[in-house]
Formats: sequence, C-alpha cells, structure tokens
Amino acid sequence: AELVDIPEPPGWPFVGNITALNPDFPLGSMTALADQYGEIYRLRFPGRSIVLVSTHALVHETCDEKRFKKSVNAALKEVRHGIHDGLFTATGPEEENWGIAHRILMPAFGPLSIRKMYDEMHDIASQLALKWARYGSDTPIMVTDDFTRLTLDTLALCSMGYRFNSYYSPIMHPFIEAMGDFLLEAGQRGRRLPLPAFMYQAVDKKFEDDIKVLRDTARGVLDARRAGNDDRYDLLSAMLKGRDSKTGKKMTDESIMDNLITFLIAGHETTSGLLSFAFEQLLRHPEAYQKAQREVDEVVGKGPITVDHLSKLPYINGVLREVLRVNAPIPAFTVLPFEDEIIGGKYKIEKGETVINLLAKSQLDPLVFGDDATEFKPERMMDEPFDKLMKEFPNSWKPFGNGMRGCIGRPFAWQEALLVMAMLLQNFNFVMEPGFSGAIKQTLTIKPKDMYMRAILRDGLT
Ligand code: HEM
Repeated sequence: AELVDIPEPPGWPFVGNITALNPDFPLGSMTALADQYGEIYRLRFPGRSIVLVSTHALVHETCDEKRFKKSVNAALKEVRHGIHDGLFTATGPEEENWGIAHRILMPAFGPLSIRKMYDEMHDIASQLALKWARYGSDTPIMVTDDFTRLTLDTLALCSMGYRFNSYYSPIMHPFIEAMGDFLLEAGQRGRRLPLPAFMYQAVDKKFEDDIKVLRDTARGVLDARRAGNDDRYDLLSAMLKGRDSKTGKKMTDESIMDNLITFLIAGHETTSGLLSFAFEQLLRHPEAYQKAQREVDEVVGKGPITVDHLSKLPYINGVLREVLRVNAPIPAFTVLPFEDEIIGGKYKIEKGETVINLLAKSQLDPLVFGDDATEFKPERMMDEPFDKLMKEFPNSWKPFGNGMRGCIGRPFAWQEALLVMAMLLQNFNFVMEPGFSGAIKQTLTIKPKDMYMRAILRDGLT
C-alpha cells in the first residue's frame, strides 16, 4: 500500500505548533484539531514532534505492546524530578525498580486486599456525607473540591495510615499544597518556551522546594512506621514487607517514597474527576439518576452500606463505565514505537516518536458506539453489553490505560467510587446549582469547572 503523509497544521519557525495548543485547555485544542484534520495529525515542537490518533482502529494498533510502549514525555518527564522511576513515571521494565514495585504491589492492589480497606474508605466517605448534611440544602457545594478532599484523605489513610483531615480545614495540608503546585509546574515546564534558564530561576527554586516537602513527608511516614510496632495492613506495609518473586529483592526506601507519593498523585484527581463527572451526568439525565437511586434503595435500603452491597449495583457500574467513556479523567495516554512503524496501513511513525491516544475522541468513535456515540447511556456499559464490547472491539474503552502499564489502582478506585455513589444517593437528593457552563478544567487530568450542587437530605443520615 501507498504511504500517506500525516497531516500537519501550519506552524511557526522555531516554536512550531506550540501556539496551536491553548495552555489552559490543551485537550480542547487537540480535539478541535482532530475535528479539522481527521483520524491522525502531527504537531511539531522545539526538539520533538507528536502524532495524535483519534479513532478506535488506530488506538487499537498502538495498544499492541509488541510494537509500542508507554512514552514518558513532556509533563510526565518533569514529574520524574519528584518521583523518579515510581510506577507511573518509570519508562518501563528496563528500569528495575518498576518491575520490583509492580510485582510486589499487584497483589496489594488486588480485589481481596482492597476489600480489607473498606472500613477506612467508609470512614472517609461518611465524613463527607456528614459534612454535606451539615451544610444543609441552602449551601452550594463545590463538588470537585470536596471530592478531591475525599479521594486524597482516602488514599493517605488506606496507603499509609495517615490522616490529612481535609474536610474541615480552611487551609490545605502543606503536603497537598506542595503536590498541587508541583503538578501544576510540571505541566507548565512541559510547555515552556525555549528561553534562557535564568528566566525560570524563581519557579525552578519553588519546584525543588515543593518536591522537598513531598519527600520529607513521605520519609517521615516511612520512618514512623518502621520505628513503631504497627501491624496495620496497608500499601506501605505491603511495600516494606514484600519481596520480589523474580529478583528476591525488597523495595528500597527511595522507591517506597516514590510510590507513596505516586499513589496520592495518580489516584486522587482521577477518582475525584470520575465522581464529579458522574454527578454532572446524573444531574443532566434525570432518568439515569432515578435508576441509580432506585438501585441503591432496593439493594441497600436504609441501613449501613457493606462491602457486599457493592457487587450488587449493576446499573451504577454501568454509570461509572459510561462516565469514563465520555469524560475520561485522563483523556489521553502516550506511547512510542520501538521501531519505525506504519499504522492504519499507510501512516509512517518514526521510532521513538510520541503518539498520543486521544481517548476523548476514540472512545466516541461512531464505528464502535454508533450514531449516539456522544450521548450518555449507562445501559450500554452494563456487564453484558460491556463484555460483548470488549470482545468485539478490544481497546475501545481505555480510561485505565493499556496492558502492563495500565492502572494498578483500578480496583481501589472502583470500590471507592461505588461506595461514594451509593452513600450519597442513599442519603441525599441533589440539584445542580444554576450557572454551571459545562466547561472543563484541565491540569494533568480533567474535571468539571466551577460546578456547584446542593444536597438535600432524604431522611436522617444513615
Ligand atoms: C496508571 C487512570 C485511579 C495508581 C494509570 C493510567 C491511567 C490511569 C490512564 C495509565 C497512564 C499512562 O499510560 O501513562 C486512572 C483512573 C483512575 C485511576 C481513570 C480513577 C478513576 C488510580 C488510583 C491509584 C492509581 C486510585 C492508586 C491508588 C496508578 C499507578 C499507575 C496508574 C501507580 C501506573 C502503573 C504502572 O505504569 O505501573 N491510571 N487511575 N490510579 N495508576 Fe491509575
């Protein structure tokens, strides 16, 4: 077959297509360019280029782990300054710490281990319900902020027995503030104009200071655990006690700290984004809302929610999967080919060139999801149709990434999200605060921007 040139939007000398991406909302620019240029296009930046693919067929090809691997590039590369070869930011198995941590942590993130964390997840979720009950129905709730408090507090408690107590604190915990600033700057560095280094002196110093706060906190937790005689089960204990089945090695202190920080980073905005988008979609789709709430009423009723209830919520499962299809909090993930590659039978990609899998487009592919692909329909993601979809169109739903570099925290996020959905629907009726524009805020992940809702207690708090 004949090769076809990959379309490229016109660029500028030296900076290439840097100005094609809106720094506040690069995803918006990327999807708009996909609408204009089609299934594939290339952008050029100083010193590198990227190829963006937007259809299921092309994403399916780049998910072949024999031909492509995760690319650690741009913002992710900057995040490595803080968390090195931790699971999320490692380049791959060629970095030994990735394999050791992966093998030690896989069972610790398995469904049975996550079940043991239920009581602590429930503790934090009930604190949220209590807070919202006390707000009363007259106070608009800043949804994403409170979900972020929830997910951070849950992760810190379940991963290392640490309580941030974010709900009632008017100021953020120093760790959380440092993490937010660190991630923001990592994102900005990835898009820096090629100016002399001294122009960036002040922000670089702040970047290093924030990293120090993160690492000092992790060090403190690790030392305290080792000094104490604690027999609690959590991810930290799994890392301290675990021994790699393949190499016989234990994780180093540095690697444990890298991964403690990694869990907080990788797990909080993603899960918080999922919950925020879930409420946005339910409030936009009253029928789906009714069905979800009815399911909770039938399965749980008025008593406390137990871990066993969570496996009996097929409709809410469909809601969460459908939210991750139309509003994936990580709306793209990046890979690179081991060798020069041809995809789609006609597009040539060079060895090592970054390919962005644009889930925000490929998960809406009409060839897979039909003419109503952009619509929110939880039914199509309930167990039976979902299993059929995964067989018929593998890699059409990729919100947790791909293969061995896919999300290790998926069972954790799923248990937490099901529990929170069930608890909130059980206790409250919600209304959207007028004025929400439907806009999206993008950092390393996406979430609804400035979305407020009100919570009206149904009966007393359960
Ligand atoms: C990897 C999504 C929750 C920890 C990933 C990747 C995605 C993802 C797309 C692959 C990234 C890439 O290819 O560059 C999500 C979503 C979540 C979620 C949508 C919630 C709804 C969590 C939680 C944790 C976590 C709760 C930790 C407790 C990780 C880690 C990796 C990862 C450590 C890297 C795995 C590796 O490469 O070895 N996640 N995630 N995630 N996630 Fe999650």
